[in-house]
Amino acid sequence: MTQDVSASKADVDPSRRDRRSAAQPADLLPGDSASHGAVPADEHQEPRGLEPGVPPGGAYDAVVAAGHARLLPEEIRKDFPILDRLVHGKPLVYLDSANTSQKPRQVLEVMTDHYERHNANIARAVHQLGTEATEAYENARTKIAGFVTAPSRDEVIFTKNITEALNLVANTLASGLADDPRLRLGPGDEVVISEMEHHSNIVPWQLACRRTGARLRWFGLTDQGRLDLTDLESLINERTKLVSIAHQSNMLGTVNSLSPIVKRAREMGALVLVDGAQAVPHMSVNLSKLGVDLYAFTGHKMCGPTGIGVLWGRSELLDALPPFLGGGEMIETVTMAESTFAPVPHKFEAGTPPIAEAIGLGAAVDYLSAIDMHEIRAHEVALTAYALDGLATVPGLRVIGPVWTVNRGGTISFTMKGIHPHDVGQVLDELGIAVRVGHHCARPACLRYEVPATTRASFYLYNTLAEVDALIAGLRQVRKFFG
Ligand SMILES: Cc1ncc(COP(=O)(O)O)c(C=O)c1O
Repeated sequence: MTQDVSASKADVDPSRRDRRSAAQPADLLPGDSASHGAVPADEHQEPRGLEPGVPPGGAYDAVVAAGHARLLPEEIRKDFPILDRLVHGKPLVYLDSANTSQKPRQVLEVMTDHYERHNANIARAVHQLGTEATEAYENARTKIAGFVTAPSRDEVIFTKNITEALNLVANTLASGLADDPRLRLGPGDEVVISEMEHHSNIVPWQLACRRTGARLRWFGLTDQGRLDLTDLESLINERTKLVSIAHQSNMLGTVNSLSPIVKRAREMGALVLVDGAQAVPHMSVNLSKLGVDLYAFTGHKMCGPTGIGVLWGRSELLDALPPFLGGGEMIETVTMAESTFAPVPHKFEAGTPPIAEAIGLGAAVDYLSAIDMHEIRAHEVALTAYALDGLATVPGLRVIGPVWTVNRGGTISFTMKGIHPHDVGQVLDELGIAVRVGHHCARPACLRYEVPATTRASFYLYNTLAEVDALIAGLRQVRKFFG
């Protein structure tokens, strides 16, 4: 175990100069299969050697044997100035990317350049700066549409975060203003979510149901941290208007297989909305193949700035939905008596939008694309396997969520017998290790597993195996300290 974050077991080949090791075609990984055109994106095919049943303790070797540790994080780390920081005199070990990711210099520079050279409001100025700012903002929309393979750039709506995107859908359905009855919630209708949702995919639906008289239902969870689909057919029925489900859980790390849900929802005529906050930053997501109706994500978890989120929806649906917020830029004409509205996406972008933030998110997707989402996913599978192996050796530690890398991301929640997560977090912080403690805005999942809170370590493209070593060493110290 070591605190040295610059060396890791994954970088054994000194001849590697690129951020990736010698090019080998990426095998199919969870969530990335659609871009290979083989099977739908959520038909997760795992790295060889990682079939269910690989026992904890053997996961990392299996990943490495399958050639899934190709990214060179110490090259990537050079792009992230904050990772050079000392915290309490120790090298920062940032294991809180599920909360918010760090930002590469490439994103910071694009945003600074925007403010220093091109700053103006968009879509309302005829001057040169206004034209440049508008072009950069709309260019970012095109890049982001490409990053998630959206069928059309006009289907990409900028919001301030995913919370606002999910509220946009809940509020427009609850408003009763849509002409199309599929898009109006009312008594007798049902909305289906799951017990692993983030509060931002629970509370808007509770409010919408309270407002309209619709009923909220949910999938339960298995003891292994998976969606329990046993009641799929009764939960999604002819009364279901919408199913809203996380692609990847922010607490359990579980990657949900969306296809059975999409299939059943289609049969019942229900819409499917996906919370992709923890998926889009970590895997290749192909919205042209996923088969869902609406999909949302948030910029700050994917190397972008805070203050920018995305709602994607099928254009036929977005056209039919009423506006969410009213104001400037979302209108076609306004009289004192009434207004007509701009075409999508502008219908949903009232007021001055987060211009620099959208441009920053455009730079973030350029950055991630240049590295390759398949490589990022593979790197995180390797880190997760290594961490699961290490955590299994810490006495009294219980992982809350899947204990294999199959259909799971690099977010690991755990408890330590007899020690409160806040104490765990505090000792780790003194060692320079940043993790999150608490209910992670997923309190129903905590209640399901009968834990008031957990400690959560989450990995991203810049994390190293040495940082995982530091975490495990830190946890041993926690155990020693609290007995
Ligand atoms: C799965 C999931 N959904 C939604 C959110 C909310 O994101 P934001 O606060 O950026 O709106 C988060 C943030 O942690 C999340 O992990």
